[in-house]
Amino acid sequence: MKVFITRRIPQEGMKILTEATGVCEVSQWASDEPIPRSELLKGVQGAHGLLCLLSDKIDAEVLDAAGPNLKVISTMSVGFDHLALEEIKKRGIRVGYTPDVLTDATAELTVALLLATARRLPEGVEEVKKGGWSSWKPLWLCGYGLSGSTVGVIGLGRIGMAIAQRLLPFGVKRLLYTGRTAKAHGAEVNGEFVPLDELVSESDFIVVSCSLTPETQGLCDKAFFSKMKKTAVFINSSRGAVVNQEDLYEALSRGQIAAAGLDVTTPEPLPTSHPLLTLKNCVVLPHIGSATYSTRGVMSALTAQNLLGGLQGSDMPSELSF
Ligand code: NDP
Ligand code: DGY
Repeated sequence: MKVFITRRIPQEGMKILTEATGVCEVSQWASDEPIPRSELLKGVQGAHGLLCLLSDKIDAEVLDAAGPNLKVISTMSVGFDHLALEEIKKRGIRVGYTPDVLTDATAELTVALLLATARRLPEGVEEVKKGGWSSWKPLWLCGYGLSGSTVGVIGLGRIGMAIAQRLLPFGVKRLLYTGRTAKAHGAEVNGEFVPLDELVSESDFIVVSCSLTPETQGLCDKAFFSKMKKTAVFINSSRGAVVNQEDLYEALSRGQIAAAGLDVTTPEPLPTSHPLLTLKNCVVLPHIGSATYSTRGVMSALTAQNLLGGLQGSDMPSELSF
């Protein structure tokens, strides 16, 4: 069966697929850069299996280009907002994804981003390099600490929970969370399930870790930022589109909120001329939540195993139900 891979991926996954000689024949866009749309539409033709990344928009056009052979799409991500699930379902195609294996890495990065943003680490590093460090100064480069604070987590799923578990030992006093339903596991982090408005107005740190859906798209907008405390820090490691970036820029530049840390933006990459990048109180990372060597290796292997399961009509280790 024919398999098309849209990018160079860690060797752990390639090894699994290239050793499955009796099962599939692999062709690949063997680059570290995203595949151009025209090449994707060409490469996928006649494929039985498609291994893609979160940067590949898999919509009706791609599915039509693939044609009726396509049995399985395996994405090397836990997020699946880039997949047109209704179209995929209509065609009876199975989907594999990578939950759990990247939870720890992403939670760790989110905590690092929160601390870097709240304690102004990039600003401090910059001052040292450019000679702005004249002496120890009582009022210089002060930020906000977690001890005694209220943290609000939007989306207490796998990653949200892992973030909460890592933040609690810093001395967090209250842990609020919001979502569609209260979670039994919320009790493990003394989580209080509250309406969004209450979370927004009471939190000193807001961490967004929900999935991107039509409901969460643009959730963090002007009204949202206007309800936050002036001293509060906003962190997003979910998807850029959950945030209205123009509204975030206004809130940050007017001092309506203290600071923001973003691992995800719209678009990605964020153009270097983007207004958010002119602000000292905004820390932007290039979507590196899951970027540890071992996590990317495990993600790659799981993506390959999901693909093989789908091709062979057997169990996939992580199949998305939709
Ligand atoms: P989960 O499915 O475990 O968690 C998603 C959470 O989103 C659930 O708790 C869900 O709550 C919540 N949610 C859904 N709709 C809403 C809503 N309307 N309001 C508030 N919360 C909502 O997924 P993961 O924790 O594994 O991953 C979460 C997301 O993180 C991924 O979808 C991906 O976009 C992003 N991600 C980013 C990474 C990075 O590199 N920065 C790395 C990995 C993931 P409920 O069940 O109540 O609906
Ligand atoms: C995902 O898996 O959805 C992340 O955004 C990248 O690891």
